[in-house]
Amino acid sequence: MAQVPVNVTVTGAAGQIGYALLFRIASGQLLGPDTPVNLRLLEIPQAVQAAEGTAMELDDCAFPLLRSVDVFDDARQAFDGANVALLVGARPRTKGMERGDLLEANGGIFKPQGEAINAGAADDVRVLVVGNPANSNALIAQAHAPDVPAEQFTAMTRLDHNRALSQLAKKLNVQVSEIKKLTIWGNHSATQYPDIFHAEVNGTTGAAAVNDQAWLENEFIPTVAKRGAAIIEARGASSAASAANAAIDHVYDWVNGTPEGDWTSAAVMSDGSYGVPEGLISSFPVVSRGGQWEIVQGLEIDSFSRERIDVSVKELSEEREAIAKLGLV
Ligand code: NAD
Ligand code: LMR
Repeated sequence: MAQVPVNVTVTGAAGQIGYALLFRIASGQLLGPDTPVNLRLLEIPQAVQAAEGTAMELDDCAFPLLRSVDVFDDARQAFDGANVALLVGARPRTKGMERGDLLEANGGIFKPQGEAINAGAADDVRVLVVGNPANSNALIAQAHAPDVPAEQFTAMTRLDHNRALSQLAKKLNVQVSEIKKLTIWGNHSATQYPDIFHAEVNGTTGAAAVNDQAWLENEFIPTVAKRGAAIIEARGASSAASAANAAIDHVYDWVNGTPEGDWTSAAVMSDGSYGVPEGLISSFPVVSRGGQWEIVQGLEIDSFSRERIDVSVKELSEEREAIAKLGLV
C-alpha cells in the first residue's frame, strides 16, 4: 500500500547544517526507506534564493521518496501540516553579545515559530531544536505552543552523545557498537555532563573498563563538553555534517524506537526525574517506545555525577529565569 508522505519542515534550510541535512532526509535516512517525504523549507527572506538553489539540487537527485520541496519565508506556511519540525536556523552569538542579548534575539525567532507550530502543525508533530542555545530555544517554542503536548518539543544532545561514544571507544580500543548506555545530562553547552558510570562495554561498566579517573576528569569530560568549540576553532565554522547526522539519529530513533538493551541521550521536558526541576528541557538517558521518548528511571547517581549534573541543570534554570524576565516563557 502506498504510504502517505510525511511533512518535514526544516528551518535555516540554506545554512550549513541544512545543506548537510536535507539530502539525507530526502534519501530516506530520517524516517526509513519506505516513507515518502514532503520537504518544507523555511528561511529568512535574504536566504530564500539560496534555499531555492538547494531545492533545485534536491530535484536533481531524483530521490524516489521525495514528493515535494517548497521554500517559505513565512513560519505559518512552513509549519502548516508539519509532522516533523527541525528548528535549525538561529541567531548566532556575535562579538560583544551578552547571554541575555542572545536569548532575546533567539526569542524573536523561536516564539513566532512556536506559535506557528501551535497554529498549524499536525497533531503528531515532533519538534527537534538544533539552533543554539538549543535547550532554551526549545523551551521558548514550547511555551508558545500550548495546544501541543510539551513532550513533543525536544532539543539536540545526540551530537554530544555520539562524540562521547567515539571518545570512549578510542580510549578502550573497541568499536562504538560495543558501548551501550552512555548518557549526556543537562544543557547542550560546556557544562553538559557525559556520564560513563552506567555505560556497558562488553559486560563491564564504562568507568570500570576505563579505570582511569584522571582521564575521565581531565580529558574525556572536557573533550566532549568543549568539542563544539574545538570544531569551530579547527574548521572556522561550527559542526555541520556531524550535527546533521545527530539530528537524523534523534528523529529516526524517536519515530522507529531505540534498540533493546540500549538507550540514547536527548533533551526532553523534565518531569522532575533525577532532581531536574519540572519544566526544564534537559538532557537525560532516554528510550523511545511507541513513538514517545521515556526517561530511563532508577539509575543510581553517585556524588561525582550528582555534582556535575547539578552544575548543568543550574545553568538551565538560570537560562529559564533570563527568558522568563524577557517575557518569553
Ligand atoms: P548557519 O549560519 O550556516 O545557518 C543558519 C541558517 O538559519 C541561515 O541560513 C539563516 O539565514 C537561517 N535563519 C536565521 N534565522 C532564521 C529564521 N528566523 N527562520 C529561518 N531560518 C533562519 O548555521 P549552521 O551551521 O547551520 O547552524 C545552525 C544552528 O545550529 C546554530 O545555532 C548552531 O550553533 C547550532 N548547532 C547546534 C548543534 C547541537 O548539537 N545542538 C550543533 C551544531 C550547531
Ligand atoms: C556544537 O556542539 O558543535 C555546536 O553547538 C557549537 C556551536 O556553538 O555552534
